[in-house]
Amino acid sequence: MQLTKQQEDLLNGAKGETLAKVMKTLVMYGQAFDATRMVEVSSQYNHLVTSFGLGVMKPVYELMDTLLKEGVRSNQKFTVDPRPLDPNVPTSFLQDLIFKHFMYSKQDFYEKQLNELGLLEKDAFTCTCYMSEVGNTPKKGEVLSWSESSAVVYANSVLGARCNRNSGIIDIMGSIVGYVPYFGLLTDEGRKADWIVKIETSKKPEAQLLGSAIGMKVMEDVPYVVGLDKWLGKELNEEACTYLKDFGAATASNGAVGLYHIENLTPEAVEAGRSLLKENVKEYVIDDAELQRVYNSYPVVWKNADAKPKLCFMGCPHMSLQQLKDWTEKIETQLDKYSHDKVLIPTVFTAAPAVIAKFRETDYYPRLQKTGVILSYICPLMFMNNPLCAKMPVITSSNKLRTYTTSRYYTDEEILMQLCR
Ligand code: F3S
Repeated sequence: MQLTKQQEDLLNGAKGETLAKVMKTLVMYGQAFDATRMVEVSSQYNHLVTSFGLGVMKPVYELMDTLLKEGVRSNQKFTVDPRPLDPNVPTSFLQDLIFKHFMYSKQDFYEKQLNELGLLEKDAFTCTCYMSEVGNTPKKGEVLSWSESSAVVYANSVLGARCNRNSGIIDIMGSIVGYVPYFGLLTDEGRKADWIVKIETSKKPEAQLLGSAIGMKVMEDVPYVVGLDKWLGKELNEEACTYLKDFGAATASNGAVGLYHIENLTPEAVEAGRSLLKENVKEYVIDDAELQRVYNSYPVVWKNADAKPKLCFMGCPHMSLQQLKDWTEKIETQLDKYSHDKVLIPTVFTAAPAVIAKFRETDYYPRLQKTGVILSYICPLMFMNNPLCAKMPVITSSNKLRTYTTSRYYTDEEILMQLCR
């Protein structure tokens, strides 16, 4: 790998042994992917994936401690993925005990470390850091050191920033030295599409199902999607961005997509069009039958497939302000139609603390409260990943949550009916 004089000096310890080790880790990471050089991280803020103070993550706390003792700080302020716990979310006594005393016993300690290292502000915990209410929105062409897969795919595809699907801790390291290895989605060639995906559905496809279908087909490749602008339009407005947030998270979790192009809509597709297609591109056609096939292929991992759901989680990735408003209206209308006052299943909507704060300023907030829906800032996946919650019949319209937990996927429409009818 070709390093600049400055990078060589860093590697050789000119700024201390700790920074040299961080640089060495990044160089080795780059070598594993045949990176040719290191490039500067150029975004204003970073985003970290490791948000949870799991008791067993001792090496992480030790690493952070070493960095802090040596006076090393992140070059950029950063946001972090959502917190795992929130007293607003209903829990049993046993769950509470396990969460606080066994699983996330180091949460306060770890948040203190994050704060010292460069946390943007005390509630900067969300996976949708790119939303305007949160303010960590990279610009087109900026190089990032992020690793949260749903945020990476959004930043690359919708914002046109450049970021690989890094891992936790590597994300901090890139920000500390200010460089990341140049390979994959950072390069022009790596951003070209291996697949052309043709959307031929008779109605607007469910974002989460479409993302899942594409993710499972193309895996880590780059898809160029045609025909979706028929349903989303040609402008990246709030509705289209919200759709692409959920679509992208499904491609990134049901597969390993880090970048997609939507013809006539996402910035690089608008700029370069089909010149983004590689030679010998593969083709995947998605129609109604294909989406149904994908839906039918999801396994139901509940012990009793007919169990009555005990909890419903919506908002993985975190919901946008518009989604919160739309869902408030949809639930109100359906409750009214079926003569119910409150949702029939305990339901949690999750969103960024900053989005929740904005939502509280609107008259939708008391209306949502009236329906019985709970609003929270947690990560539902962190909440569910333990033997106690894994046994619970939980429903969701998030394909990411379905993939990583025992929760069961339903479309938005089906969820709405279960909550209200
Ligand atoms: Fe966000 Fe947690 Fe889902 S980080 S994307 S809410 S798994």
